[in-house]
Amino acid sequence: MITSEQPGFHKLSAKERIDIIKEFRGLTNEDVDLLHEDFAPKEAFGILYQWEEYTSNKLEEYAKKWGENTIGKFAYFPLRIAPNFLIDGKDYFVPMTGEEPSVAAAASYAASLARKGGGFETDYTGSIMYGQIQLIDVKDPVETIKKISDAKKRLLELANKQDQKLVSVGGGAKDIEFLNPLKTKKGDYMVVGQLVVDVKDVMGANAVNTMSEAISPAIEEITDCKTNLRIISNFADKRLARSKAKFPIKELARENLPGEEVAERILSAYEFADNFVYRAATHNKGIMNGIDAVLLATGQDFRAVEAGAHAYAARSGQYRSLTKYRIEDDFVIGEIELPMAVGVYGGVRDPKPELCKKILGAKSSDEFARSLASVGLAQNFGALRALTTEGIQKGHMRLHAKQLVEQIGAGELSEKVLEKLVEGPVTFDRATEILKDLKKN
Ligand code: MEV
Repeated sequence: MITSEQPGFHKLSAKERIDIIKEFRGLTNEDVDLLHEDFAPKEAFGILYQWEEYTSNKLEEYAKKWGENTIGKFAYFPLRIAPNFLIDGKDYFVPMTGEEPSVAAAASYAASLARKGGGFETDYTGSIMYGQIQLIDVKDPVETIKKISDAKKRLLELANKQDQKLVSVGGGAKDIEFLNPLKTKKGDYMVVGQLVVDVKDVMGANAVNTMSEAISPAIEEITDCKTNLRIISNFADKRLARSKAKFPIKELARENLPGEEVAERILSAYEFADNFVYRAATHNKGIMNGIDAVLLATGQDFRAVEAGAHAYAARSGQYRSLTKYRIEDDFVIGEIELPMAVGVYGGVRDPKPELCKKILGAKSSDEFARSLASVGLAQNFGALRALTTEGIQKGHMRLHAKQLVEQIGAGELSEKVLEKLVEGPVTFDRATEILKDLKKN
């Protein structure tokens, strides 16, 4: 009997791992073929055993490259492009991936409106990240902080020895700050030192974690205290990206809704999100729909950016909107500010994300962060414009219906199937039925 207890699983070949899962879950040969299909389509090989040999070799190579526990590739999202972005006077085509077709559509639409107001204007505070070093069982926090501060020069040198390359481009460990000491439940103190690191054009987790771990033994020696955690903080509030855009009110008009009313409704939607966490969570999710889509396409640590964004939204003690809106003259002015820990170097080393970075064309973390903030603002404005007018389902369902029509292979009847399908319900079965009826007639 196979169980999930597999201590040496990481040491096995991809095939051995697949065999275990196959037996455990009763996978079919077709299921296993699916794991190989990503390396070459079967039809490209006249002889089946050649395909099997070729794809098995490719899969093993791939599993070796990606390391522990790999059994295949997972790449089914479409790669889309959101056009129309004008950011600080420069044109961008934004690569996005993810399952929701309306994400790229809404972002491009909002970017086209922002363009009419002169495009996005952005700002970046610089690439500062913190490495946190937690000291525990501290008896005298003031004395402990003083001892570390006195040894700061030596500690920073030691940290910087870990990443000469970063130092050579002007980055590296710059300072050590401290959070307010915490009196613990045990009655002693916790002291947290924050190593301030300028990570320049990388995301920074590796550099910061290596430095934090490297200086901890010296800190223990200097203070005679124990260190516990030594890890980057994703609350990157010294690495903020800002973007601002002017959306022309006259462009917001809808059937029976003048632009001015849509603008007022957008402001009211913002007030709603800024004051009620139940709405703020969805509002900010919409912002991250756009940002994550770019982060995924460009191989970034999207969880780090997500964590930073949500923590930043809650920095006042209440979880609020990451965007702000106001009306000025003939425009709705939208603004966004959020932490953006992204790097143009490092990250997922694979040709696809590299290609997506090339398409986006950001040359530094600074430029990358600014474009991501602009995408977030565009995504949010696009969602609010739809939500305050016809709602999102109409557009969303139309795109979903289009996908279904493609999936059922409606060919020259596509338009006719689509017309009926959008009346709802938009389901695969209904699309198939409509096509069947149309063919009969
Ligand atoms: C859906 O993925 C995202 C929205 O819910 C965002 C929002 O409500 O602002 C449309």
